[in-house]
Amino acid sequence: MDGRDLVRAVKDIGTERGRRAWISGWRHRRADAVGLPRRGTERARVPGLLAGTEPRPGGGVLRFARSELLVRVPAGGGVFGGWDGAGPTPSYAVVGTGPEPDPRAVLEPDTGGGWRVVSERVTVAVSRHGAVEVRTPGGTVLRRELPPRWWEPVSAGSRDGDAAGAGAGGDAEGAGAGGGAGAGGGGRWVLRSEVAADARFFGLGGRAAGPRLRDGVYRLWNTDPKGGFAPGDDPLYLTMPVQLVVADAGTHLVFHDNSWDGRVVLREGEEGAGSGMDRPGVSELRMEGGPLRCWVLVGPPSRVLQGWSGLTGAAAVPPEWALGYQHAKWGFGSAEEVRRVAGGYAERGFALSAVHLDIDHYDGHRVFTVDRGRFPDLPGLARELGETGVRLVSIVDPAVKAGDPLHAAGQAVGARGAFVRDAAGAEVRGEVWPGECAYPDFTDPAVREWWGGLYEERLAQGFAGFWHDMNEPVSFTPFGDMTLPRSARHSMDGAGGDHRAGHNVYALGMARAGWEGLVRLRPAERPFLFSRSGWAGMQRYGGTWSGDVESSWEGLRASLALVLGLGLCGVPYSGPDVGGFGGSPSPELYLRWLQLGAYLPLFRTHSAIWAGRREPWEFGAEVEEHARAVMAERERLRPYFVTLAHLARRTGAPYVRPVWWGTPEERRLRDCEDAFLLGDALLVAPVLECGADRRAVRLPRGRWYDTATGAAYEGPGQALLDAPRGRIPVLARAGAVIPVRGASGGGVELEVWAPARGRTGGGVVIRDPGAGFEAGAVERYTSRWAGEGVVVADEAGEVVADVVVRGV
Ligand code: GLC
Repeated sequence: MDGRDLVRAVKDIGTERGRRAWISGWRHRRADAVGLPRRGTERARVPGLLAGTEPRPGGGVLRFARSELLVRVPAGGGVFGGWDGAGPTPSYAVVGTGPEPDPRAVLEPDTGGGWRVVSERVTVAVSRHGAVEVRTPGGTVLRRELPPRWWEPVSAGSRDGDAAGAGAGGDAEGAGAGGGAGAGGGGRWVLRSEVAADARFFGLGGRAAGPRLRDGVYRLWNTDPKGGFAPGDDPLYLTMPVQLVVADAGTHLVFHDNSWDGRVVLREGEEGAGSGMDRPGVSELRMEGGPLRCWVLVGPPSRVLQGWSGLTGAAAVPPEWALGYQHAKWGFGSAEEVRRVAGGYAERGFALSAVHLDIDHYDGHRVFTVDRGRFPDLPGLARELGETGVRLVSIVDPAVKAGDPLHAAGQAVGARGAFVRDAAGAEVRGEVWPGECAYPDFTDPAVREWWGGLYEERLAQGFAGFWHDMNEPVSFTPFGDMTLPRSARHSMDGAGGDHRAGHNVYALGMARAGWEGLVRLRPAERPFLFSRSGWAGMQRYGGTWSGDVESSWEGLRASLALVLGLGLCGVPYSGPDVGGFGGSPSPELYLRWLQLGAYLPLFRTHSAIWAGRREPWEFGAEVEEHARAVMAERERLRPYFVTLAHLARRTGAPYVRPVWWGTPEERRLRDCEDAFLLGDALLVAPVLECGADRRAVRLPRGRWYDTATGAAYEGPGQALLDAPRGRIPVLARAGAVIPVRGASGGGVELEVWAPARGRTGGGVVIRDPGAGFEAGAVERYTSRWAGEGVVVADEAGEVVADVVVRGV
C-alpha cells in the first residue's frame, strides 16, 4: 500500500462504499492468488546464433539457434519484425490483415554474416546474434535493437533445452538486457534499443509530463490515478506502446504491438559524453508477457503519422458541433439546472455547443437509465436545447450493477453471458458508482454487438454524443490496482486470455462497441464519442479527454502535454477539463485554461460534484469579458477546426502539433513544452504561469505575425510577446490562408497573412460536408504578392474575392 492508498483507505473507512471496496479488493487479490499461474523457476533465452534464412514476400524469416525472426517491409514503407512466430495480425491496433508486403523488398546478405532488407525508404539489417538495425536509405542508423531476452518457466522448455542466459558469453550484443521485474505468466521479455545521442522521445499515450518524455520509467497499464493528477503522476488512463523518436538523422515511430503490462525505461543520450564519444539514447521495454513484435515507421513526422493512420485506421471526424465549446458538470442535479446553465450562456451571448450529463442523471448511477424524478422528460429537454443549437452528451460507464435488469439481459447474451468471469467461471464483481457491478467483456464480438444496441435507449432520450468513462476499467479498492483481477478471463475475440492481456484493450473494445452500435442505429450520422481510456487504434472510434486533471497550474501544463503526446500517437481529438476536475481554480487560472482550451480540439469545461463551478461568469466581470473574447475567437476559427478534423482523417496529422512538426531538425524546438502549432497556420503560446503577462515564444524558421498586434517576427529565434490577461500570444505563419467564420456570422471567409516579400504561401480548406460520412472536397489556395497587395488564388489560378488580408 503506498501513501495515496493509505489516504484513500482512511477516507473510506466507515462508509458503505468503503466497506464494499475493501471486500472487493480482497476478493480480487484472492482470485489472483488462485487464478494466476505461479512463477516457478525460469530461465533466460536469447536468440543465439543465426542458423539459416528463408525468403518471404517483403523480407524473410531468420532462424536463430533458439528463436526466429520474421522481417517484413510493407508496401507503404516501414518495417515489421516479429519474434517466435509473431505476425502482424491478429492485432487490436492494426486494421484488416495489415499492409501488403513490398514485393521488391528481399532478404539479402549484409556485412559480418548478417542479413538485410533494402527498400525505398528504409533498410533493416539483422546481425547474426539477432540485433536489428533500422537505417535510412543513406545508411544512417535510426534505431538499433539489441537481441531480445525472454524468461520462461523451465517446464515450458526453452528451445534446444539450452538455458540461454549462459549464452551471454558469445552474445556481446545482448549484454545489458538485465533481469526482468514484476510477476506474470511465462514469456516475460526485455528489448533494449539505442537511438541517436541527440534523439528525443515522445508519445507512449497520454502522459502528464511532456510532451518530451524525459529519463524515467513509464508504465504501460491503463490506470485511474485515484484523484486529480499533475505532472509526475504516471501512468494515467490511456497508455500505448507507441514512441515517436526525433533526431537529426530522422524521425521514426516505433510500435510494440502487445497489450500486456510493461515498462518503458527511457534515457536520453549525450553528445560528446565521457571520452568525447556520443552516448546513445536508450529505450528499454520490459513486458510481462505477450508477443514480441514491432513496427517501425520512418520519415518526416507528417509521413510517419500518415503511415501510422494507414496502419491503425483513419481518425473519426467529430460532428461539426463537437468542435464548438461544451459545458460538462458532475452534479447538475436536475433538468431545471441544465436549463438554467444553458440559458446563462445564451443570455450572455456565449456560444454553447453541448451540455454533458454525468452519472447523476442516471437512476442510482446505473448506466442506460434516467432519474425520472430529476429529469422527467429528457427527450423534451433535448429538443428544447436543440432549438437553441445545444446538444446533449451522455456519460456511459461500462460497469453494470449486479441484479439490475440490464445485468440480467447481459447474462442472457451468448452461451456464457456478457460479463467477465474469473478462472473458476464465476462472474467477476467490482465496486463502482452504482455499487457492486459486473463488467461486460468487450473483447467478445457478441458482447460488443449487444452493448452497441443499448445506445438506442440513449438516442431515444435525445442524446447526440457519448462520453465513455471509468473504462480502464475501474473497480474501487483502497489498496492495489483499481481494476479487475489479472486472472479474470477474456474472450480476446475467440483466442482466449486473461486480464493481463485484456486490460489495456478493454476501453478500445468498448469504443468499438459504441461506435459500431451507433453506426448501425443511425447510419447517416457520424457518431460523437470520446473515451477516458483506450489503446493504439482508438482514433477509429473517437477521441479522449484528460480525465481528472488537477485544478492547478501544474494541471494546466499537464493538459497540454497530454493533448500533444496523444496526437503523436495518432489520437488527434482530445482536450482537458478546463479549470481542472476537482478544485476551485482562481479566476486567473480558469481564464488561462479557457484560453488554452479554445485552441484544442475538445474544448470543454468540467468539474467534480464537490468542486467549484466552471461557467465563465462565475469568476467575476473581468473574466467574463475576457472569456467572451475567447469563445468568440473559437467560433471564428470553427471552419479551421473543421478543416483540421478532416485533414487528421486524411493524413494522420493531429490538429495540435509540437512546434518542431515541420522542422524536426531544429533541435531547440524539440524541448519546447509550452507552445504548439494548430495546423500549419497558427502557433499558440498559452500562459502556463501564475502572474505572467509576457512570455518568450520559440519560433520555427520563417516569418510569424502576432495576430493581436500584427507585428512580424523572424524565425528561427525567440520573441518576447505581451500576454495581458485578456489574451495569449497566437502567431500566424506568413503566407497562411486560414478558413474563418465570416464577420457577419455566416459562411466561410479566407483570412490570409501576407507572405514575406518574394515568397508565396497557401492553405487548404475542407468545408463541413454535413453530419454524414462524406469526406468533403479539399480546396487548395495559394497566396502571393501582387503589386502592393496580397492576393489569394484557387487551384485554377483564379483570384478569390472574399479574402481578409492581414499583416500588410
Ligand atoms: C470520473 C471521470 C469524471 C466524472 C466522474 C463521475 O472521475 O473522470 O469526468 O465526472 O468520474 O462520473
